[in-house]
Amino acid sequence: MDDKYGRSPLWEHHNSTAITRKAVTDLSGFKSNAVNFKLALWDPASNGVRYLKTLAHELAMRMSEEEWRRLRRVRNRDVGAPISARVHGQDVCVDYLQAVFELGFISRNVTLDNARVLEVGAGYGRTCHSMMSNHDIAEYCIVDLDNALLLSRAYLERVLDEESFSRIRFVRAEEVEAALEGRRYDLCVNIDSFAEMNPETVEHYLNLVDAHCAHLYVNNPVGKYLPDGHSDDDEVVRYALSTGPLRQVLDIYDSEAVSAAAVRFVSAYRPGEHWKCAAEARSVPWSYYWQALYGNENPVP
Ligand SMILES: C[S@@+](CC[C@H](N)C(=O)[O-])C[C@H]1O[C@@H](n2cnc3c(N)ncnc32)[C@H](O)[C@@H]1O
Repeated sequence: MDDKYGRSPLWEHHNSTAITRKAVTDLSGFKSNAVNFKLALWDPASNGVRYLKTLAHELAMRMSEEEWRRLRRVRNRDVGAPISARVHGQDVCVDYLQAVFELGFISRNVTLDNARVLEVGAGYGRTCHSMMSNHDIAEYCIVDLDNALLLSRAYLERVLDEESFSRIRFVRAEEVEAALEGRRYDLCVNIDSFAEMNPETVEHYLNLVDAHCAHLYVNNPVGKYLPDGHSDDDEVVRYALSTGPLRQVLDIYDSEAVSAAAVRFVSAYRPGEHWKCAAEARSVPWSYYWQALYGNENPVP
């Protein structure tokens, strides 16, 4: 037999492992099993990083000139060794691409230059870093749990210049009421954080926002989902299902289900009767994160 057109060692291997005679006779699930993982799709279970880098690459390739300018102004994004792709000579990671999109949405609706900003639940501080690198922020107050405060303080001191860092105030969550007394903020930011708190804690924070802030930006999931496959940690899943004001389980990859849940989202995070939602949208790239910007129609004293 002429093997001029025959199999490479790679395909000999595939034909004896994944794409076997037996496997190709079963059409019932081949598109999401080992057969298709050697044909049209990389196995998502073992190629997670590849998909993440692809996401970063694709998001960056679609950015506008203005978004690129915003991203380039944020220096030292490499601190902490993020998982990145390289686009147009810049290392890009999903954290800061999201920060650029979030900042774009916020700055279209609130004047940030000279603003006083309060952020609840800042993580390592990517939002503060991005906002301070793009705007002349008068004060940036971070309220968080103790361990996250340790991280954001160290990170922001490393990535920002001394003068910008000196305008950040770090407040322990348990001391927030006393720390905010007599203060007012132009904007409160909460990203991916209210949905992980006890529902009554969110209520307390929204009351503080009502009393001290002129605007609120919220970016959180519209509801809950069950793990796609097997979860090693049923207890954590149980905890996650019990947090935040929006605990309804939905199909987070069904855009109509998400749009219906988004209506509940906009109403759940409105801090009070006299607050109006000025803008709302899905939060790219996630199918089930929503963002809303509210304005306080009562002047904050
Ligand atoms: C998933 S992280 C999101 C971090 C950041 N906003 C981001 O998007 O990169 C949740 C954040 O909420 C904070 N957090 C959780 N419970 C909190 C509470 N009761 N009060 C203040 N912050 C809280 C955590 O410490 C963490 O910083």
